[in-house]
Amino acid sequence: MNQAQQNLLQAAAEAAELAYAPYSRFRVGAAVLTPGGVFSGANIETASTNLGICAERAALTHARMRGEQEIIGIAVSCPDARPHEDGSVDEYGAMPCGACRQWLAELAPSAWVVASSSEKVYQLDDLLPLAFKLHMYNSS
Ligand code: THU
Repeated sequence: MNQAQQNLLQAAAEAAELAYAPYSRFRVGAAVLTPGGVFSGANIETASTNLGICAERAALTHARMRGEQEIIGIAVSCPDARPHEDGSVDEYGAMPCGACRQWLAELAPSAWVVASSSEKVYQLDDLLPLAFKLHMYNSS
């Protein structure tokens, strides 16, 4: 992981402090890097369980609403995730969920992905190969 990726993870960790997750008690922060800067988001839950939003989608929306269309990378921080029993830190479940991977495939197809749960750097294709895309005969 390079310095920019570590810095983005730090921004994601700070964003996680702003999460509203009283139901799951699982806070998530995300930060996206664009040519214009860093844009963060956190998970926001509601009492109607299915109506929350993940940190990654909040961060992507934040960047988009600031006019940013190119996403260089995204970092995800899950301070409440429990590491493996053996102490290893790679991929213990705190990676972007399937819905967020679909958003990333649409809005950040070339982005690298780093997470507090792993020392690896991923490309979106690693996380969502063969992503759904809308190809229709009659689209104009
Ligand atoms: N969550 C995220 O923010 N990002 C993910 O990629 C997976 C899950 C949130 C949703 C919910 O508020 C909490 O984590 C527990 O599922």
